[in-house]
Amino acid sequence: SATALQEIRDVLVTIAKESGQIILSAHPNTTDTTTKKNTTDIATATDLAVETHIRGRLKTQYPHYAFIGEESFTPGSPIPSTPTFIVDPIDGTTNFVLHFPDVCVSIGLTVDGTPTVGVVYNPFLDELYTGISGQGAHLTRANRAPQKLPLHSGPLVGLRSACVGLDWGSDREGPNFLLNLRVFETLARSAATGGKFVPALRFTGSAAMTICRIAAGQQDMFWECGCYAWDVAAAWCILSEAGGLVVDAHPGNWNPRVDNERFLVVRPAVQGQREIVEEFWGVVGEER
Ligand code: IPD
Repeated sequence: SATALQEIRDVLVTIAKESGQIILSAHPNTTDTTTKKNTTDIATATDLAVETHIRGRLKTQYPHYAFIGEESFTPGSPIPSTPTFIVDPIDGTTNFVLHFPDVCVSIGLTVDGTPTVGVVYNPFLDELYTGISGQGAHLTRANRAPQKLPLHSGPLVGLRSACVGLDWGSDREGPNFLLNLRVFETLARSAATGGKFVPALRFTGSAAMTICRIAAGQQDMFWECGCYAWDVAAAWCILSEAGGLVVDAHPGNWNPRVDNERFLVVRPAVQGQREIVEEFWGVVGEER
């Protein structure tokens, strides 16, 4: 019910803020990391400590719900149709070890594979984004009154005047890598040659934070080829509740599966969302 989901949201907010305290009290450095998939896919002792904390709290509070976490995930597990928490203890780990403040805790709840509750908390900025399916999305800054998202939602008038966020993903080889290079090059050339298509590109290192900013209306689009479910599950709920769109390179086939995926995210807008998606694929030359 609506009230049950609000209670879950409140519990997730408490756990995300506790996790934020663990993050704030850590002293990470660039040599204090282990690698997972490759040298760009890193984890610190704090990633592990925060995931252990979140997992323990959720197991006590919701013993029958499934749990998928970035640091404890075993490849091959699909997202169950039963209620499942999908957690990234630190999204933006590279930022974290560099003390660049785009770092957040991301906790999503999926039901039937659909993101239903999302909580994203950045302890450095004290920014809390929340969303509940059917009940809207909010941003709470530094304990001030929650603001309903989006903060801005004017019309999208096309790539020519868009601000596009980009990221690499953790997999930097094969077809994903080549597609990323093509997207980056096309957009960068456009921006460099007088903004023929895109006047602004952003590359800030946390998919969850970027998608939340798009939910707020602070960036127009985000492209990433190589996100995992824990990078996007919570922010996806927040974004769709704000009126934003998530599409992948295979429209109609989007699913928060636990494997590499392609994401194109568009901010809430009174008009022009579908048109800008079409324009993006046209400019990038992606076959669909
Ligand atoms: C990473 C960030 C980054 C994205 C990678 C993710 P992590 O998350 O979200 O923006 O490009 O795909 O893995 O590893 O810092 O939790």
